[in-house]
Amino acid sequence: MALPPALGERLCSVPHPDHAPGDADTWVLAFDDYVPSDEGTREALCALANGYWGTRGAAEECWADGVHYPGTYFAGVYDVVTSTVGDVRVPDEEMVNAPNWLPVQFRLDGGDWFRLDALDDSELLAFRQELDVRHGILRRSLTFRDDTGRVTAVRSDRFLSQADPHVAAMRVSIVPVDWSGPVTVRSGIDGRVSNSNVPDHQPRTHRHLRPVELRELAPDAVLLEAETERSAIRIAVAARTRVAVGDSVVSSRREFLSHEDGAVAHEFTVEAAAGVPIEVEKVVSVGTSRDRAVLSAADDATDRLAAAPTFAELLREHELAWERLWAEFAVELHPSGDHALALHFNAFHVLQTLNAVDADLDAGIPARGLHGEAYDGHVFWDEVFVYPFITLRRPRLTPALLAYRHRRLGAATAAAARAGHAGAMFPWQSGIAGDDVTPRRLFNPLTEDWMPDHSHLQRHVGLGVAYSAWQYYESTGDLQFLLHDGADLIVAVARFFASLAVYDPERDRYSIDHVMGPDEFHDGYPERPGEGVKDNVYTNVMTAWVLRRAIATVDVLQRHPGRLAWRRLEIAPGEPEAWARIAARLTVVFNDDGSLSQFDGYQELEPIDLDAYRRRYGWIGRLDLILNAEHDSSNRYQVSKQPDALMLLYLLSAEELRELLGEMGYELPPEAIVRTVERYSTTSTYGSTLSNVVHSWLEARRDRERSWEFLQRTLSSDLSDIQGGTTRQGVHIAAMAGSVDMVTRCYAGIEMREDRLWFHPGMPAEIEAIKFHLVYRDQALSVRLSQHELRIDSAEGDAAPIRVVVDGDEVEIRAGDERRFAL
Ligand code: BGC
Repeated sequence: MALPPALGERLCSVPHPDHAPGDADTWVLAFDDYVPSDEGTREALCALANGYWGTRGAAEECWADGVHYPGTYFAGVYDVVTSTVGDVRVPDEEMVNAPNWLPVQFRLDGGDWFRLDALDDSELLAFRQELDVRHGILRRSLTFRDDTGRVTAVRSDRFLSQADPHVAAMRVSIVPVDWSGPVTVRSGIDGRVSNSNVPDHQPRTHRHLRPVELRELAPDAVLLEAETERSAIRIAVAARTRVAVGDSVVSSRREFLSHEDGAVAHEFTVEAAAGVPIEVEKVVSVGTSRDRAVLSAADDATDRLAAAPTFAELLREHELAWERLWAEFAVELHPSGDHALALHFNAFHVLQTLNAVDADLDAGIPARGLHGEAYDGHVFWDEVFVYPFITLRRPRLTPALLAYRHRRLGAATAAAARAGHAGAMFPWQSGIAGDDVTPRRLFNPLTEDWMPDHSHLQRHVGLGVAYSAWQYYESTGDLQFLLHDGADLIVAVARFFASLAVYDPERDRYSIDHVMGPDEFHDGYPERPGEGVKDNVYTNVMTAWVLRRAIATVDVLQRHPGRLAWRRLEIAPGEPEAWARIAARLTVVFNDDGSLSQFDGYQELEPIDLDAYRRRYGWIGRLDLILNAEHDSSNRYQVSKQPDALMLLYLLSAEELRELLGEMGYELPPEAIVRTVERYSTTSTYGSTLSNVVHSWLEARRDRERSWEFLQRTLSSDLSDIQGGTTRQGVHIAAMAGSVDMVTRCYAGIEMREDRLWFHPGMPAEIEAIKFHLVYRDQALSVRLSQHELRIDSAEGDAAPIRVVVDGDEVEIRAGDERRFAL
């Protein structure tokens, strides 16, 4: 197996001057060169967000021009545009690229506006860009000599506040090193933006925003309000810019600029003196018409800006908020080094995407974060990989995020009814309203043509929702959640899958047909592409699992008969019994070697020589596209893009899977598990970043070296852009969360089931110790794991005792206890 480019090959990490060396180099991602062709990727890697909104790490003086792409996105803000592709009218729902708040440009003595790209190598004297993930700050410093020989140094710092998610701030310092003269600074908001981050989407119409209001709020403040075309969401951005020379704020020559097509700015001209910095401080506030407890987006942004303190004060609050977040989420690794940096970096981006002080934003977990426009910002099943990261640390975020699904139960129920089924059919790709927004065509860059996309047949997405809801209940014991949103989700999903199951009296077995499993290389049988497959093992086994949890949920509801939940769900007499029957008699197909078959007929497909394709094409992750270009189809072969059967061993422990299959009337001896892992490891192209998470997990107790290699790939999914160019359109949130989860939950062997917290540690030799925090049933635990010992410290408090099982030995842990277990 070829290793990915070394972690951080194209980047370097350095101590921040404010921190002790050794510590800081695991928290700062730094670049000391400017490479235009890498810029798009760096913008995604250096994006800043706070759960409410996010902005790519684009330079403040640039605009979308092929090198730079200053995108800004608000969680849950989507719009639909209909474009004509060929002769077909195609509606597309996209996470809207919002007005750009970054612009701070400057020019010296009436010359050209400064542009980094206009400099040649000899003119750029120094460059450095740093993403400080401990404090959530993006910095850039550069020194240049212009064509008249003047040397100027520029430094900028920016952040999107974690303390007040509606606020961002930037400070740009321009130092005339060896000259004096007038400098003009332009600071504004640009609403003339479109969605054009993804070249494959070119044939679409991308403009979503219509300017509504452009206003000068004060001599130093401007407001821009825009509205999205179809969803009619108002987005308001207000900006205040103060310019100081040295220590004094100047009321300089000033001009208000407004462009009807959607841009506002202030221009300031000041007299600069050699060695005296010109400090530009820009504070920005934002709001949308989706916000609650506000009169209007524009009013809120205006009031918030008026009340906003200085950059320095905002920064203090922001840093404190990050400190609090890291106290819960940081994972310490010994020895540290590049892996520790990658872990911090990945956790940082997940937290940035999901955490917001007001978490209940009615936004799901977008697969590519608030970092770019890949997959149009849609929500997939990726949450399955993300919830453990959140639930085990800040459990209250999970029901708020699951509420995104709960609010869309109506749409999912209507979709199921339209398809002739009961319950709720959650869509493979979800956006604002919860209807299915999966595109029906996929662009193949190899043929430069569109091919049919049937991935909407991945009905399993609902199973992930129900699984996550139950896991949250297991880990928190939150009865209120289970009685309400939890029961609604679990029961609706169970009903849908129960109604998909068709009984075959001859075999006395149920089957589910016409679905796709997580492996996207099989959308049907070779002779019937696009019609789905029968008895996909992931779908069927997880259906059995969810049906059992639905029965357990009904059992809990019955024990609380006074609660409305019971009546609301209208559980029909005999319904749980019917679920039990289906769960016990769903079909699981096995291959001749005893391994689990991905679906009925999988082993009859042709084998394929993957090495031959590797030799011809290099990276074959997207073999489906390669085969399509060769007028062939992945449906014909025993090859998978990503784990499907193997997902079962990721979501369930081997014991739980064996038990579940036993209840379904099948045996899964240990050698069958080994054969299953081997079979699908050798026939996978690892075409999704999720693959590495799952394979690392599966190999952790089998082949630690291999597991470690997969973990390194997972850690560097985006840092090394292992898919060769996808990071520039957004980071891979599930792989990022999965990498942290791997190091904590997998190495500590954590499971939550049967009202107990289980540990079964197994660390790779490369790691000496891991330290992290988790919350289980209200107890805040600090976990230290070394090769020889597991130590659990529970914080003092009133939390009830918990049951913990370490390698089979059960103990009770009370708040304030310190326990050590020899391994
Ligand atoms: C994967 C899916 C995943 C999606 C979004 C695809 O490439 O095959 O499993 O949900 O990316 O991350």
